[in-house]
Amino acid sequence: MTARPRETYQFEGGLEQAVVDLIRVGSAGHASGVRQLANRLVRAVPAAVEDPVKFRAALREAIAATPAAGLRFGAGEIPTDQGGTDTLVSVEATPDGHGLVLAPAAMAELVEVVEERHRALELVAVGVPLTRTLLLSGPPGVGKSMAAQWLARELGVPLVSVNLASVVSSFLGSSGRNIRSVLEYAKSGDCVMLLDEFDAIAKRRSDESDIGELKRLVNVILLELDRWPDDNLLVAATNHLHLLDEAVDRRFDRHIVFGLPGELERRAILEHLAEGTPAEDDSVLPLMAEMTDGWSGSDIKRLWELGMRRAVLSGVAPGDQLLRALAQRVDGQRRDRDRFWLALSDRLEMSSRQIASLTGVSHPTVSAGLKRARGRANA
Ligand SMILES: Nc1ncnc2c1ncn2[C@@H]1O[C@H](COP(=O)(O)OP(=O)(O)O)[C@@H](O)[C@H]1O
Ligand SMILES: [Mg+2]
Repeated sequence: MTARPRETYQFEGGLEQAVVDLIRVGSAGHASGVRQLANRLVRAVPAAVEDPVKFRAALREAIAATPAAGLRFGAGEIPTDQGGTDTLVSVEATPDGHGLVLAPAAMAELVEVVEERHRALELVAVGVPLTRTLLLSGPPGVGKSMAAQWLARELGVPLVSVNLASVVSSFLGSSGRNIRSVLEYAKSGDCVMLLDEFDAIAKRRSDESDIGELKRLVNVILLELDRWPDDNLLVAATNHLHLLDEAVDRRFDRHIVFGLPGELERRAILEHLAEGTPAEDDSVLPLMAEMTDGWSGSDIKRLWELGMRRAVLSGVAPGDQLLRALAQRVDGQRRDRDRFWLALSDRLEMSSRQIASLTGVSHPTVSAGLKRARGRANA
């Protein structure tokens, strides 16, 4: 696999078309459309641009300098807690989310949410409301927060994230006021609003002294969900659906359940991670994708980063370091372990003793496994 020459991706229609589109959308006063086009240019620089790196940096700066209608990012403009010290939200002017890989059904729903907003006028014309509120649930590290970034980027608007844990934790007595000021802020301009760690509220309920306060907070939020305007998309994410009050998920217009990635998705996540990294032979990524069932996208990313760090420090090929790091984490009891050991032996020229010490399995077991795998490979 060769390093991907990102710079040569084609912007559909080339530089000329991009300029024309920008002027058309801009003179119609469609600010989020301009940002959307600009974000698209950042992702796919037209081949005619001489210095893509500089071009991208300049575009990013220009996008950041023109915040969405009404939404103010300046110091003193982002809502803070009562003491005025901690900001209650973080704002990403140009959220990324590039490389999000989901099971086809979940991805299709996200794409649909975006398309609804691009074709809002058609929906409004027949009196059908847009998806205003969206609940994402699933285990940790499967891309829920990343999906909110992806949505904001596709819609060409900033992402306003609230960490509910911090809203709730600081001064419990003012959490109602806090959440209201956050929601008001989000309504003041174009954005995607993310209520991350949505279960933080429900979780705190076990603490007797907080119950009254938290009940009020939940009620504030439920009320807000019902009357959330359709200008902005509100996304809530939770790792612990079961901790939410019954029927809370039904208060959302849509609920998308994220699962752990399947082998195809793991492979695609790895391929995104490999974009622009040094050439690697073709056998490593499929093997990694195969041996990581039960892993989350975040687990895979961490393994990737570990292997790449070690490759840089040691000067050993990334693929070798990735397989070593994987070997330390793969369950030595899994059924297809023999094949993995064979790959370690053939590719990394490791002895069965080395494999044994890396994987924590006994040396005779590794030898026997290798023999079996060789037999099968030759059959
Ligand atoms: N489905 C996915 N596709 C691509 N990368 C992912 C995916 N899930 C997780 N990752 C990687 O792991 C990181 C953390 O994921 P995150 O979105 O914070 O998970 P969650 O919010 O579900 O706990 C992401 O920034 C990304 O690098
Ligand atoms: Mg998250």
